[in-house]
Amino acid sequence: MNPTTTPAWARLAEHAASPQAHLRERFATDPERATRFVAKACGILLDYSKNRICDDTLRHLFALADESDLRTHILAMFEGEAINSTEHRAVLHTALRTQSDVPVLVDGQDVLPAIRAVRERVNAFSERVRSGDWQGFSGESITDVVNIGIGGSDLGPLMVVEALKPYADGPRVHFVSNVDSLHLTQTLKTLDPARTLFIVASKTFTTTETLTNARSARAWLVAAGGESAVAKHFVAVSTNAAKVAEFGIDTANMFGFWDWVGGRYSLWSAIGLPVVLAIGPAGFEALLAGAAEMDLHFRTAPLAENLPVLLALLGIWNVNFLGCASQVISPYNQTLHRLPAFLQQLDMESNGKQVRADGEPVDYATGPVIWGEPGTNGQHAYFQLLHQGTAVIPVDFILALKQPGQLDAHRTSQIANCLAQSAALMQGKTAEEVRTEMSAKGVAAKEIEALIPHRSFPGNRPSNTLLLDDLSPHALGALLALYEQKVFVQGSIWGLNSFDQWGVELGKQLASGIEQRLAGTGGPGYDASTEALLGYIGQL
Ligand code: F6P
Repeated sequence: MNPTTTPAWARLAEHAASPQAHLRERFATDPERATRFVAKACGILLDYSKNRICDDTLRHLFALADESDLRTHILAMFEGEAINSTEHRAVLHTALRTQSDVPVLVDGQDVLPAIRAVRERVNAFSERVRSGDWQGFSGESITDVVNIGIGGSDLGPLMVVEALKPYADGPRVHFVSNVDSLHLTQTLKTLDPARTLFIVASKTFTTTETLTNARSARAWLVAAGGESAVAKHFVAVSTNAAKVAEFGIDTANMFGFWDWVGGRYSLWSAIGLPVVLAIGPAGFEALLAGAAEMDLHFRTAPLAENLPVLLALLGIWNVNFLGCASQVISPYNQTLHRLPAFLQQLDMESNGKQVRADGEPVDYATGPVIWGEPGTNGQHAYFQLLHQGTAVIPVDFILALKQPGQLDAHRTSQIANCLAQSAALMQGKTAEEVRTEMSAKGVAAKEIEALIPHRSFPGNRPSNTLLLDDLSPHALGALLALYEQKVFVQGSIWGLNSFDQWGVELGKQLASGIEQRLAGTGGPGYDASTEALLGYIGQL
C-alpha cells in the first residue's frame, strides 16, 4: 500500500511543517527527555532522545506503523509466506536462528530439520579442521582458510569474523571478493597451499567474480598438490549443487542452503562457515541465539519498546519528513569496522527501490544512502561535514562497552569520543559561546567577530546512540538482527519488496557482453561513451 495515503502520514507531514524547537531547547525544557526516549532489550540500550522528535511525533509514527499493518507483515515473514513476491519466495532467515522447535512451514514442509542437519555437518566439519583432524594433500593440518565469495556471501561472514576477533581460536580466516586478481594473489602470497582450505561461497554459484577467483585459486592449489588435492582443499556453500559439481567440487564437500534465504541475510546459514571455523560451533550458536532473542523481542514487544520498530520509525521520520537522504553508521569498536559495509548491502540492496511491491512507482523517498567508518577515524575525516555541512545526516553511534583484551586507558577515550560527538551534533555552538571562549583566551574583539561564522554551528543534528553491554557473539547477533528487522519495518511501511535486487542485474548482463568484446569473441555494440572507452583500452 501507499503509506502517504494513511491519515498518520498526513498528520506527520503537518507536524513536521509546524514550528519545531531546537534539540537544545527540548532538553532544557523537558528534564525527563533523556530517560523517556530510551529503550533497552537484548543487552542493547537505544538512546533516541537526540532525534528531532517529541511525544506527538512518536504517537503519529506508531499510528503509521499500525495503519500500515506492520503486525500483519511481521507475522507473514515469520510464518513463511512468500513475501518476496517478485521471486515467489518465502523469507526465512529467522528460521535459521530460531531457538524454538515450533515447525516453520514452506510449501507445507517444516524447514527446521534440514536447517539443523546442515548445521550439524558444518559443526562436525569445522571441528575436524579446527582440531587438525582434517588434513591437506601433504598430511598436514589446515592453518588458513580463504573464503571466496562476494556481496552476501562475503560481507556477513567477513564482518562477523572481524567483529569477533577476540574470540578467534581456530585457523586464520581470509576473505577474497574482488575480481581484481590482486585481491587473491596478495592473499595467497603468504599462504602454504598444503595448509590452506578454500570455501567457495555463492548462493547461485553463477557469480562471475567468485567463479573467476575460485578458478585461479584452484589452479594455484593444483600447481602445488595436483588435481587430487582439490577434494581436501575445496568446499562449497551454495544452493546450487549442479553448478558446484560442474565446477569440480565434490558435492559431499558442499554445505547447502535454500532459496528462501536472501544473499544479504545468509550469514546465519552455512554461509557462516568461516565464522564457525574461526570461533567454533559454540560461538556461532551464541550468535544465532542473540539474533533469535532480538527476533522474539521484535515479534512480541509493544511498538513503543520495540527496538527495530523504533529505529525504523525514527529513520522514516528523518528520511520522509525531515528530508535526510543519507545515514551514517558510526561504530566505536574497531572490530566492527566492516559493519557499515555490511549494513550498506543490507539496507541499500533491500530498500533501494523506486516501485512498491504492487509495481506502482513511489512518490516518496525510500532507502537512504548508508555509509560510515569506525567512529574516531570518521571524526578526523568526514565529521566536519556532519557538524557544519549543508546536509543534515543522522548518525547511529554504536558502542560496545566491554571487549576481551581492552586497555582501560583507551576505553575511557573511546567512550568519551562517542558521547562527545553525539552531544556536539545535538547542541552545536552558538556565537555567544564562541565569543565567551575566545575572549577568555584574550583574542581581539575584531578577530573574534570575523571568526564567529566559521567557529559557530547550528547543532540540532539527529543521532541515535546504541550501547551494547559487550561485544560477545550473543550481543553481536542481537545487534545484527536489530538492523535486519529495522530494514524490514521500513520496507514494509514503504510498501516495498525488500527481498529482491533486480537493479544489479543489468550491469551483470552488460559486463558479460563487454568481456566478450575484450576477448575478441563477439559481443554487442554499446553507447558512444562505452565504445570510446573500449577503443582507448584496446590501444594500450
Ligand atoms: O549482485 C547482487 C547479489 O546477487 C547479492 O544479492 C548477493 O549477495 C551477491 O550478488 C552474491 O551472490 P551469490 O551468493 O549468488 O554469489
